[in-house]
Amino acid sequence: MYYPDELVEEVRMKNDIVDVVSGYVRLQKKGGNYWGLCPFHNEKTPSFSVSGNKQMFHCFGCGTGGNVFTFVMNYENYTFPEAVKHLADRAGVKLPEIEYSAEMQQKVSRRARLLEVNKEAAKYFYYQLRQPNGQIGYQYLKKRELNDETIHKFGLGYAGKNGAQLVQYLRSRGFEDDLIKEAGLANFSERGGLLSQFWNRVMFPIQDINHRVIGFGGRVMGDGEPKYLNSPETPVFDKRRNLYGLNFARTARSGNIILCEGYMDVIAMHQAGFTQAVASLGTAFTSEQASLLHRYTENVLLAYDSDGAGTKAALRGIEILREAGLTGKVIDMRPYKDPDEFMKNLGKEAFQERIDRAENSFFFEVRILEQQFNQKDPEEKTKFHREIAKKLCQFKEEVERENYLQAIADKYHINFENLRKLVLNYAAQTGLATPLQRPKSGVAQKNKPEENARKAQRLLITWITDSPGVYAKIQKYISAEDFTDELYRKVAARLFDELGQGKFNPAAIISMFEDEDEQREAAALFNTSLPELTTAQEQEKAFRDIVLAVKKNSYEYYTAKLGTDVNALKQVIEGKKALEELSRIRIAPN
Ligand code: UTP
Ligand code: MN
Repeated sequence: MYYPDELVEEVRMKNDIVDVVSGYVRLQKKGGNYWGLCPFHNEKTPSFSVSGNKQMFHCFGCGTGGNVFTFVMNYENYTFPEAVKHLADRAGVKLPEIEYSAEMQQKVSRRARLLEVNKEAAKYFYYQLRQPNGQIGYQYLKKRELNDETIHKFGLGYAGKNGAQLVQYLRSRGFEDDLIKEAGLANFSERGGLLSQFWNRVMFPIQDINHRVIGFGGRVMGDGEPKYLNSPETPVFDKRRNLYGLNFARTARSGNIILCEGYMDVIAMHQAGFTQAVASLGTAFTSEQASLLHRYTENVLLAYDSDGAGTKAALRGIEILREAGLTGKVIDMRPYKDPDEFMKNLGKEAFQERIDRAENSFFFEVRILEQQFNQKDPEEKTKFHREIAKKLCQFKEEVERENYLQAIADKYHINFENLRKLVLNYAAQTGLATPLQRPKSGVAQKNKPEENARKAQRLLITWITDSPGVYAKIQKYISAEDFTDELYRKVAARLFDELGQGKFNPAAIISMFEDEDEQREAAALFNTSLPELTTAQEQEKAFRDIVLAVKKNSYEYYTAKLGTDVNALKQVIEGKKALEELSRIRIAPN
């Protein structure tokens, strides 16, 4: 922690969350809370709530939440100390500079300086494009059918033929040589000193989600190698964690995001009105980028090149999306190579049709697989069917697997029962999936026991948060040790400690964690949806079930650890006693 806890808490208390969030999101009061459209994912009806009482926000759509620091970190892409600083400035709280270690101070200001030099370079390129010497670049963009509005929106520019000019300009604005070099804008050469990295290219500034220029891509005009030259990775340019166009796409509210391969594809799509298009940054799509996308959407449409390399990249992309829990679909670009060409030739209505007809990613995979086997040769055809069966094993959920099995059997005219047997074989051999049985009830067993246990722990914390009075009634039976998840345990320990002292401040507890993901997880503990219950009996039963579930899980958890953990025995004995008592007494939550 760079600042003392009390100071962080002072900053938090002086920044009312409803005030702060209102600066970014239109909120409406309904009941005790304020509601609005979630700025962190696409939605048409408000599921984003801000509680003035709890001083927390929570989105029932995407599950994100936290205190005022979390909000600013998430929205502005700040680190925790940056968010504290920002809100301290806002409320006029003076922060001691000294609390930053010298090293940290340097790191923070170095990042800020890198962003500044990038911004200045982007301005320079943008200006050059409009000079007589830059006409060659401007004409090139015009030839690519980009209009002035688009060129402006993406801040496109031109790096001239004089490699020393950019450096001179940046020096004149007070940037030191080593900073210019670290930003990847120039390199030392034996003969010319520091020279621009980009030479005679049209320039594509790459922005992070907050529109800050973090790097560049420069394209040769015409043929030449390399086609695109990209900035190297720098402390502000992480190619795995940013996406071209996401600064605009995140607010497109289209219900999906379209993932393309190239910068030009993104630009052509935005120009045609598909402002939900993004692309990776000269490298393959990564799992970090998939998680980033998951903040904004559930549905990703792949608009990759229709050639062999594009198909391969799409197959890999599908896997990454699947691992991130996103639904992927594939847009068919044929007979054109990429979205840019498609748009030029067939236009936006035709593209919208392709979006509507986007292919389920599993069907896409099987269709590509099909091409690898000669379907006229029984042996090859059999191999094809085996491959399908193997692939079907990836669906862990029975109902889903069964549905796909049915669909594929129909589509490829394979006997359903035979294909099922094949799947069963592979499942048993590889242990990839539990043996397939016809679903009896049609209802999938969704939750694992650990997830149920965690849910009960979240429910209990939320219940106590909403009615702190109940703590006194269960204090005897439940302790922080009963929370078997480490983060939950930390939160519970602090919460119970505060309640014991008669203070209670959940929003402050979130500031214990500096990592945005941890803050989000901690916040989820205070914002789980409680069951809607009307009668006192219903409430009593629900509350009791939750307390029992938490205690029972804890008892089982420590029983399993007996012999390895000195604490376990004590917990088990106490757990047993508490469980017995709990089964006899009444604990009313009110
Ligand atoms: P493409 O070759 O498909 O480029 O590469 P493009 O975006 O369609 O560009 P145009 O239409 O030919 O002008 C896709 C992406 O791969 C990266 C770039 O990010 C590019 O947008 N790439 C490609 C490079 O980084 N370097 C290269 O030399 C080529
Ligand atoms: Mn292209």
